[in-house]
This record gives sequence, C-alpha cells and structure tokens, in this order.
Amino acid sequence: MMAGTIPARILLGPGPCLIAPRVMQAMAAPVLSHLDPALMPVLDGIRERLARLYRAPGDATTIAVSGTGTSAMETAIAALVDAGTRVTVVVTGYFGERLVEMCGRYGGVITRVEVEWGRACDPDLLERSLDTTGADVVAFVHGETSTGVLNPARELTAIARQRGARTLVDAVTTLGGHEVDMAAWGADAIYSCAQKCIGAPSGLSPLAVTREARRSNGGARSFYLDLDLIEDYWARRKYHHTLSSTLAYALAEALAAVDEEGLEARWRRHERSHRALARGLDALGLALLAPEGERLFTLNAVTVPDGVDEAAVRTRLREESNIEIGAGLGPLAGRVWRIGLMGASSTPDLVLLLLGALETALAAEGHATAPGSGVAAAAESFAAER
Ligand SMILES: Cc1ncc(COP(=O)(O)O)c(C=O)c1O
Repeated sequence: MMAGTIPARILLGPGPCLIAPRVMQAMAAPVLSHLDPALMPVLDGIRERLARLYRAPGDATTIAVSGTGTSAMETAIAALVDAGTRVTVVVTGYFGERLVEMCGRYGGVITRVEVEWGRACDPDLLERSLDTTGADVVAFVHGETSTGVLNPARELTAIARQRGARTLVDAVTTLGGHEVDMAAWGADAIYSCAQKCIGAPSGLSPLAVTREARRSNGGARSFYLDLDLIEDYWARRKYHHTLSSTLAYALAEALAAVDEEGLEARWRRHERSHRALARGLDALGLALLAPEGERLFTLNAVTVPDGVDEAAVRTRLREESNIEIGAGLGPLAGRVWRIGLMGASSTPDLVLLLLGALETALAAEGHATAPGSGVAAAAESFAAER
C-alpha cells in the first residue's frame, strides 16, 4: 500500500481543506450496505443537521448527493430547469459561468447578468435585468471561489422573489463558513460541498430544495441526479444507487462538529481568520482582489505582485513548507493566488504559519519585506479580535 508515501499536506487552497482527526477516525468504522438498517440513523442525522445548517424551511428536502459539489449543483438544476425555463444567471466568475453552461445543457433559456470578475453583483443590476427580461429562475453563486467575492444573497434572492422567480444558490464555498439562511432569504434551492467549510472529504454534497420549487417541474432528465429518486432512497429507503457508508460517517461526524461549535461561532472564526490574513498580506505588500465589504472570509484571492512568478511561489510553498494554496482560474490564471481558510484550515496557527512561509517564498522570488512583518500584523489582528 502506498499510504505511507502520501504527504500530510497543509491544505490552504480552495479545497479540499484539512479534516479534523475525529472525522478521519469516523471513516474507520465498518462498511455497511447502503440499505442496512444500522445506516439509516446516520442518514437521518445528516438530513436533520443539514436542515439546521441551511436554516431550511420546514418543507425543504435536505439530503447529500453522492458526488462532489458539481453533483449537487446538477441535481438542483435538474430539479428546477427544463427545456424552455427562463434562467437569469448572475455571472461574477468561473462558477457563475458553470451555472450558465449547466442550465443551458438542461434546456434553460439563459439571460446573463454580467459582473466584472473581482466584484460582487450590485442588486440593482439584477433588478434592471429582471425588469427587462422576466425569469422563471434566478441562479447565482454566493461565494465566488474564483475571485474571493461574496455576493449579497439576501438582496438578490429578495429581488428574484418579488418578481416571481425561483432562486438557485451556489453555497459551495460559504455553507458552514458564512451566514446561509435559506428560510429568511426565501431561497428555493441551495447546494454545497463537503470538502470546504464543513470539514469532510469530498464525495457527498449537501443540497436543500423547497417542495414548492420542485412541484413546478416534471421528472429530471438525469437519472442519477434525479432529486425525486435520490429522496426515495434517503427518505423511503428505496434503492437508487450504492451510497458510500464511509463518506456518510465522515459527513455525519463533521456536521456534529459544526453543531458543537455553533453556527455563529463558526462564522466568527472564519471572519477572524480572514481579517488577520488580510492584515498580514497587507504588511507583505500584497492586495486582495476584491474590495473590502465584498470579500469572502473563506477564500482569499490575492493579486500577484508585478515581477513575481506566481507558480514558483506556489511550488516553493508546497516543496519547502508542505503548504498548498491555489492558482487562479480562467482569466485570473497567473494573476492571483487563492488562499482558502475553511473548516479545520481556518485557525490562527495556520494563518501565522502560512504568512511566515509566504514571506520566505516571496523573498526567494525577489519580493522581500521586513522579516516577520506579515506574522506580526496577523498576530495583532487576532489579539485585537479575541
Ligand atoms: C463556487 C463553487 N461551485 C461549484 C464548485 C464545484 O464543486 P466540486 O469541485 O466539489 O464539484 C466549486 C468547487 O470549488 C465551487 O467553488
């Protein structure tokens, strides 16, 4: 077995993120069949905890789709979008583009609300678009992982609702790290993943959909990602596919840890880490792509300074400090680094470790700063926000 040769990487990229030992240990429990009665309380527990995590309305279905975040995304789209459905998509980056692509594949007639990469969507833009071109569904990404931008979900959802449109929200980089409040927002479908703020391995992806939104739609085109069939398994134990009990144990344990920490406390932890990182980066002469007030706490897109080799810094971090950070996507390739502080990867120790390692890597690539300045600024920020 090659397990001994795999490095225990310090995961500070856009995901996967570090996983707490208790979640790793949960996966060592015996494998059960997907229909074993002993697995059912685990699945029921996941559904209940997800309902709390999403703050879902009473009539919403909460389940975890077998697959990565993209599978929950596609299940949501298959449940809401069909041939001829008018879908307005807010595009603020790479994952907004993915919504356009996927809704189009399901037959949606797309209207794009275009936003500059690195900025959040101004709600007026959506309002104007909907007043010009009506929509059955409005889709947007809450936390745009490609740019580090947080979109104003509450406002966007309210505008869509006022105009009678359903809302489909990507919370892949926010659920468990930022406030998500499905009931208060009045959102119809919100999907996420396990490997970011929730703190489990990828492979079972949370999804919440209101009953109302689903009734407006017939059977899904996809068999594997048909929410009705998936729910038949989760709620009525009817075979649809062979769900991994191992991943269910991990997700159940990670969600239990979320409950123990408390949602508000967890959001505050992510905010504190982000603020300290931002202070530290500033001291290193590095700027975040998104302006203050539009930034994600969970994913930080950092502009690469002129003259610095983006890939060389990432390679140094990996090879010399065992730290992974992410590269830019699409038009931001080579122009930003993406630092994720999510779940177990969002701690003061890791922020300080990263800033120290980054200072060293940057200096080796010709961007020298006063020794220890980033770490000192971040430590001050943590001390001030304790
Ligand atoms: C905002 C957003 N949506 C969707 C996805 C797709 O998730 P996955 O890679 O788990 O399929 C990602 C992945 O990073 C994401 O950041």
